[in-house]
Formats: sequence, C-alpha cells, structure tokens
Amino acid sequence: MLDRVTAARLIPLFAAAAAAVMGKVEGKGENWHGHVTAVTVAPEYRRLGLAQLLMAYLERLSEAAYDGYFVDLYVRKGNALAVDMYKSLGYVVYRQVIGYYTAGPGETSEDAYDMHKALPRDKEKKSMVPLPHPVHPGEQDMW
Ligand SMILES: CC(C)(COP(=O)(O)OP(=O)(O)OC[C@H]1O[C@@H](n2cnc3c(N)ncnc32)[C@H](O)[C@@H]1OP(=O)(O)O)[C@@H](O)C(=O)NCCC(=O)NCCS
Repeated sequence: MLDRVTAARLIPLFAAAAAAVMGKVEGKGENWHGHVTAVTVAPEYRRLGLAQLLMAYLERLSEAAYDGYFVDLYVRKGNALAVDMYKSLGYVVYRQVIGYYTAGPGETSEDAYDMHKALPRDKEKKSMVPLPHPVHPGEQDMW
C-alpha cells in the first residue's frame, strides 16, 4: 500500500490508465449543476485516493469553470461502498429514484440514490435538502 504523498506523486503518471471520471454540466436557473456520469478505478489501484482526487477535480471544474450551484450523481442504492464514499466526500442522498437502473435479462431493477453536494454558489445549501419521499424516473426534473 502506497502512502498518500507517494500516491499523489504517482497519480499523474498512471491516472489516465487506472481511473476515469466522466461528467457534464446541465440544468437551468438554480438547477445549473455539475453531474458525475461515472467514476471508476481499476481494482489494483483502489484505496489510493484516486476517486477522491477525480471527484475533487470535477467539483472544482463545476465551480470555477461553470459556476454551478451543486454537483450531483446517481448511484445504485445497493452499492454501499460507493454511497459511503460519496457521503465521506460531503454528498447527501437528495432523493431515491425507484427502478432507475432497469433490469437486463435475468436481472432485477434497482433504485438509485441521487446524491447532491452544494457548491459555494448555493449559499443556503438548498440543493442538499432531501426530498421527503422517493420518486419515479418520470417524476424527475428534466435538466
Ligand atoms: C468506488 C470506487 C470508485 C472508489 O475508488 P477509490 O479510488 O478506491 O476510492 P478512494 O481511494 O478515493 O477512497 C476515498 C474514500 O472512500 C472510502 N472507500 C473507498 N473504497 C473503500 C472500501 N473498499 N472500503 C471502505 N471504504 C472505502 C474511504 O472513506 C476512502 O477514504 P480513505 O481511503 O481515506 O479511508 C472504486 O471502488 C470503484 O471503481 N468501484 C467500482 C465502480 C463504482 O462502484 N463506481 C461508483 C459508482 S457511481
């Protein structure tokens, strides 16, 4: 296991091959936000802080380059590891989306958590106030 300082020095060398983050900005008015489409780290490079680094990068970009109000992402409700990681990075479960992940052959559908983290532009952190009930995909805001 690498220590954090060594890992940070090595990250630029292998980050492109070991980990990836994909995102976009979307929304209108106070819903203008950065969206994390996917973050993944190769199994042999996990627990080095790469996901944390990539998330921080996307958050900085959403704030400094796009002046968004918040960052959001969807994660499988059953992916406890990822849900806990996002919580540790300051995200809250904003709402549960029923059957968001549709089932393939032999699979069952799964709910998603839509997780939010306010950026400084959202001074009152309104984007982090959870909805009181789950929603269906059709009820979601269309960004
Ligand atoms: C989830 C995933 C992206 C984490 O990547 P990672 O680079 O290993 O994560 P980091 O090293 O940046 O970890 C950040 C924090 O998350 C938590 N965490 C990450 N992996 C963990 C694990 N296996 N067990 C417990 N906590 C974990 C820890 O709090 C960690 O901080 P710490 O190391 O200081 O304790 C990676 O496991 C992965 O690619 N999984 C498969 C794809 C996936 O589930 N993506 C997210 C779906 S939206």
